[in-house]
Amino acid sequence: MKPKILVTRTLPAAVEARLDRAFDATFNSTDAPMTSADLTAAMADYDALVPTVSDRIDAAVLGSEAARVRMIANVGVGYSNIDIAAAHDLDIAVSNTPDVLTDATADIAMLLILAATRGSTAAEAKLRTGRWGGFSIVEGLGTSIQGKVLGIVGMGRIGRATARRAALGFGMKVVFYNRSAIDDLGFDATRLDSIDAVMAAADVVSLHVPGGSPPLVTADHIARMKPTAYLVNTARGDSIDQSALIDALATGRIAGAGLDVFENEPSVPDALQQMNNVTLLPHIGSATQEVRTAMGMLAADNLDAFFAGKDLPCRVV
Ligand code: 8YV
Repeated sequence: MKPKILVTRTLPAAVEARLDRAFDATFNSTDAPMTSADLTAAMADYDALVPTVSDRIDAAVLGSEAARVRMIANVGVGYSNIDIAAAHDLDIAVSNTPDVLTDATADIAMLLILAATRGSTAAEAKLRTGRWGGFSIVEGLGTSIQGKVLGIVGMGRIGRATARRAALGFGMKVVFYNRSAIDDLGFDATRLDSIDAVMAAADVVSLHVPGGSPPLVTADHIARMKPTAYLVNTARGDSIDQSALIDALATGRIAGAGLDVFENEPSVPDALQQMNNVTLLPHIGSATQEVRTAMGMLAADNLDAFFAGKDLPCRVV
């Protein structure tokens, strides 16, 4: 008998075809997010789940009575949607999809750095609403990033790829904070000893740390930023205190932001939507055909390994 798996959201066709061949797979053709009740029921009916960021798999879901699921192959590098400690205690394996989305996500971080510093959202809104009166030498001027300081909080794979683009492609100086030691990066970057130090030194801060409560980047950290600085987040909405960020933007404590992630997706606070110095994207860091297919295939590799009794290529727990 093939293992019975539930794929919680629609995946690229090639991935679904592969999963369909290898497993007794149930797919979600409507792509509607699952509720907590759906996920709890699924725990009793399937051998494995293939969830994504929109599925909140907490201790109550994992520990539900008569749970049958032994493996969770998350489609995403971030796994703050899953209670990893509870999965560990219940001996449920969890895998993620690192590496394949590094470049795509760093590209979106760079896009947001440029959008924020050049004010492209306000500029485009002006054009689209018929308020563009013609070329001007002095109106709508942004800030050049050449020679400016990019502060990276979290120098993991995506942090490095963003820093590399900024340093080698755009002539930015890089400072960073990372909890653990970092090997040679292959470009100039200065390690600072605290998040505070990075926030204070940076002209643009880019976040590359896990999400979770309480957020790693706090109101106190935000208070260190220069009034001319921008904040970019392609990590998780709850990697930073979102209310404190909105406050800092609303009061002009910082100059602007570029955000791909939000605390309670898909809800995006009105306050942010009203601000023309903020670029907002709907969590598209890894959203290319190539990358979403590669992520699904990597989740499938992890499932194959698990049910063949082999080491998981990307084990989280
Ligand atoms: C995913 C992401 O597309 O991989 C992650 O952690 O944030 C995105 O690239 C999304 O989270 C799907 O789980």
